[in-house]
Amino acid sequence: MQAAVQTAYGAPDVVVVRDIPKPVPGEDEVLVRIVATTVTSGDARLRAFRVPAAFWLPARLFLGIRKPKRAILGSEFSGEIEAIGRDVRRFRIGDRVFGMQVYGAHAQYKIVPETAALTTMPDNLDFNEAAALPFGAMTALYFLQRAKIQPGARVLVYGASGAVGCFGVQLARHFGAHVTAVTSTGNLGLMRELGADAVIDYKTTDFARTGARYDVVMDTVNRVSVGQFRKIAALGACLLAVDAGGGMFLRAGLARLLRGPRIIVGMATETLADLETIRSLAQSGAIRATIDSTLPLARIAEAHALVDSGRKRGAAVITVAEARPGVPAS
Ligand SMILES: NC(=O)c1ccc[n+]([C@@H]2O[C@H](COP(=O)([O-])OP(=O)(O)OC[C@H]3O[C@@H](n4cnc5c(N)ncnc54)[C@H](OP(=O)(O)O)[C@@H]3O)[C@@H](O)[C@H]2O)c1
Repeated sequence: MQAAVQTAYGAPDVVVVRDIPKPVPGEDEVLVRIVATTVTSGDARLRAFRVPAAFWLPARLFLGIRKPKRAILGSEFSGEIEAIGRDVRRFRIGDRVFGMQVYGAHAQYKIVPETAALTTMPDNLDFNEAAALPFGAMTALYFLQRAKIQPGARVLVYGASGAVGCFGVQLARHFGAHVTAVTSTGNLGLMRELGADAVIDYKTTDFARTGARYDVVMDTVNRVSVGQFRKIAALGACLLAVDAGGGMFLRAGLARLLRGPRIIVGMATETLADLETIRSLAQSGAIRATIDSTLPLARIAEAHALVDSGRKRGAAVITVAEARPGVPAS
């Protein structure tokens, strides 16, 4: 099978498409024939080894000292069940599925344990749309759940046009919040389409000087300082530091000890329960994928470069295969 293989840590051109052996599922695993996947900010971060300085050594030990131990990136995907292990009960050959599991999705086939974050695709979505859901939507859901978001809450999403931000806006709206999206001029229209009640263009307006107060501030790009957060925080507000570096982890810990501002940091984990929530919200039309561009697997390095630009809107989709007859690819 063909796969995008990461030969070293570095620029997008360390990713090259090669032929490698097709994997065989174990007894409790399924083999997914990938139709679409994406290059996420997480993939680009792993490729370039962009980790906070404080985590450099443990991350290097874990991921590979001289070069990556795991060469095939890709976490979110959609496709069809090609084969199943003897003990698999949740899936049948031919099922259209989507899901998320870090590594291995930038390939024509991927092995996934039956119990992983994998489920059937909502029937109103095409493969590209389904592949563009899990990473951004499950991350935004994880952080909004940790904030215990309530109807009527005033939410500010900073970095609202990225994969996480687009779902942060839609999910906060779905939970009944009043949502303000901070983005650049060209993305203001997209934010309105996604349901933002108010928009702030960071090119022309300082979000911390509008006089507005918020209950939840979701910062996806590590641009909201603790000082700025204090200026805009309503009583009991929390800062969701989605893209926290080592400094913000430290601030969050200290703030907990010293009863300072509520800063929430962490790593979203992909769970089947959250994927099922995302599935039903997409099925009902409460959330939808935002797709920046779609490229074939052979041009995956260009998608990595788009992510590195920091200007991606929503997801950078990679089409890996044609959908089988009767199933629209997009
Ligand atoms: N904690 C976790 O578990 C977790 C999970 C997933 C992702 N993350 C992290 O969260 C971050 C965001 O992920 P993502 O996938 O959403 O990234 P992304 O899709 O690559 O974000 C790109 C977007 O960021 C916006 N942006 C860039 N600079 C900005 C600025 N100065 N002010 C406002 N917006 C700005 C851009 O909009 P403009 O062009 O309008 O500037 C662009 O639309 C990544 O660093 C990722 O590693 C963390």
